[in-house]
Amino acid sequence: MTLTEIRLGIAGLGTVAQGVLELIRRNHVLMQQRSGVSLRVVRVASRRAKPEVDLQGAQFSTEIKDLVTDPDVDIILELIGGDTVALKLIRGALAAKKPVVTANKAVLAAHGNELMSGRGQQLLRFEAAVAGAIPIIQGMSGGLAANRLASLFGIINGTCNYIFGEMEANGTAFDEVLAEAQRLGYAEAEPSFDIDGIDAAHKLTILLALGFTGTFDLSSVFIEGIRHVTVADIRFAAELGYKIKHLGIIQNTEAGVEARVHCALVPLNALLANVNGVMNAVQINSDGAGETLFSGPGAGGAATASAVLSDVLALGKQMSAGNGIGVMPESDSNKDQSGRQPVLVSMDDVASANYLRIPTIDQPGVFAKVTQALSEFAISIDAAIQHEASSDQAVVDIVLLTNDVAEGTMNAALERLQSLDIVAADIVRLRVAPTL
Ligand code: HSE
Repeated sequence: MTLTEIRLGIAGLGTVAQGVLELIRRNHVLMQQRSGVSLRVVRVASRRAKPEVDLQGAQFSTEIKDLVTDPDVDIILELIGGDTVALKLIRGALAAKKPVVTANKAVLAAHGNELMSGRGQQLLRFEAAVAGAIPIIQGMSGGLAANRLASLFGIINGTCNYIFGEMEANGTAFDEVLAEAQRLGYAEAEPSFDIDGIDAAHKLTILLALGFTGTFDLSSVFIEGIRHVTVADIRFAAELGYKIKHLGIIQNTEAGVEARVHCALVPLNALLANVNGVMNAVQINSDGAGETLFSGPGAGGAATASAVLSDVLALGKQMSAGNGIGVMPESDSNKDQSGRQPVLVSMDDVASANYLRIPTIDQPGVFAKVTQALSEFAISIDAAIQHEASSDQAVVDIVLLTNDVAEGTMNAALERLQSLDIVAADIVRLRVAPTL
């Protein structure tokens, strides 16, 4: 096989960049055999001082823009993160007609429409931006290209999934598990992005654009994180037959497209309930393929590097074939049969069943007051748990599952419940996942 050498310039030297260097070192011969592309890292740029990392003979620079100007760099790997320097670098590379591979979901969620217009469609690839090692971008834009997508349910933040798993298995406190996720290289530089749902929303924005609307619009995604969930909620949910997962959900409904990230109760026997630790999974329902499940490690240096290098090899193969490069469908490919752009449904109109944990003072008549308040909003109760209070316990949790209620109505009912004098602390409300 004739080999084509592709020279790489890497921006950033964090967990993912180091994972890329290590995977090239370990598997470069295998990659050559499979693709006919020989990868050589010629330049690494990071604004931080050069760490003790084997750069495989590449030149080191603290000037990120050198990657664009260096004529020896064929493909730029943007592995810095954030949306300031990274955005400038991607814009510069595209202007210079240099292909870019990025793992940066934040920059795509905020600037995807600009970056993926014009030559970005050919030059910019981002498999690693969503769900780590899982080839979900190639799966959706290639494998499922012939399908109209009905729904997508995803565990798309490894840190949240890892935190819930550890809280469930060991009753470990939230902060302690988060620190471990940071140590393992799963969490974002700013971990509030993980636990407040922002990272998942960035990824869902990309999946929404790719499979449903053709437009990158972070503001159309409802976002809620995981800070309010306690070990007690995980245990009550299990008693009711559910696991708590942080989900990204997109549904194509009669009213339009719903897009949201929040915690959700998932039935114990659902496939997604059994996706554990840092694993991610994306379940897609489409008209031709039916139900498909993509699963794999969603974070970590080596796993993300695998996705980065799949893009690099795909670009390298196209460059070596001299066919030019292309990957994305046209941006209006998601219009419906009549050519209309899909409508986004407001979160107020989305209906869900709800889990409520209501901490109440321990006195007669409390349960009746709670059910009375809910009935004022025509909300009915599908299941309830109240454990016997111990003699020294002043606050007792009432746990309820409601019927399907529109978000706006549920929020009004929650305000009313929270104002009752028998409610002793903040109510925890979690939505039940739609039928997966
Ligand atoms: N912080 C992210 C996660 C890393 O935990 O999923 C991968 O995007």
